[in-house]
Amino acid sequence: MSYKGKFRVWRGDSEGGELKDYEVEVNEGEVVLDVIHRLQATQTPDMAVRWNCKAGKCGSCSAEINGMPKLMCMCRMNTFAEDEVVTVTPMRTFPVIRDLVTDVSFNYQKAREVPAFKPPADLKPGEYRMQQVDVERSQEFRKCIECFLCQDTCHVIRDHEENKESFSGPRFLMRVAELDMHPLDAADRQHAAQEQHGLGFCNITKCCTEVCPEHIKITDNALIPMKERVVDRKYDPLVWLGNKIRRR
Ligand code: F3S
Repeated sequence: MSYKGKFRVWRGDSEGGELKDYEVEVNEGEVVLDVIHRLQATQTPDMAVRWNCKAGKCGSCSAEINGMPKLMCMCRMNTFAEDEVVTVTPMRTFPVIRDLVTDVSFNYQKAREVPAFKPPADLKPGEYRMQQVDVERSQEFRKCIECFLCQDTCHVIRDHEENKESFSGPRFLMRVAELDMHPLDAADRQHAAQEQHGLGFCNITKCCTEVCPEHIKITDNALIPMKERVVDRKYDPLVWLGNKIRRR
């Protein structure tokens, strides 16, 4: 069973562009990426699209489908009516390189700003020991495929370019939370989360959680617990007293 699907795809580059209409064959069982590939193969050989595994694991084919940040390879065509126009646009939060491909280097910059795992000074490699129960919470965050859909959807940077310098975004705040939950990490993640990575900008809208293709509970399991620990520490009377004495 195949039909002619109606597609509207953004074509252009960093100078500007527009939505263009196409009719493309759609077959049973296909996903949006299949149709984009057919469009490229039959009508628009110069159309730029980034993809790799086509199995929802490489995080490369992120785009916006009818305005929703999604992986093109995980978005089934049978979720649309046959006469529905499917609009495919590049991620809005990052600069366009060409067509559906954006420059996501902002995310690599933010990744570099998170200091690596820091084991206690008296432990040597090979001496690290921890219990499964102690790492269970943070293991969920290791499922991240770095598709950056959470970064794309978060309004703190989607609508405010000026916040990009001070806000690392949900993916990297989750990384900070993961390290903070690590039983052997000795770095001060809580102060850094607030002061260097902009945790305070997050107002818990949960849009990041909604678009995560790995169904990681970014807000409930990483960001909110991190906020609670930061606040606990900030308003802990003993910490406050210690800081005051040290400042004298
Ligand atoms: Fe943004 Fe997620 Fe917070 S979308 S505002 S980081 S809950």
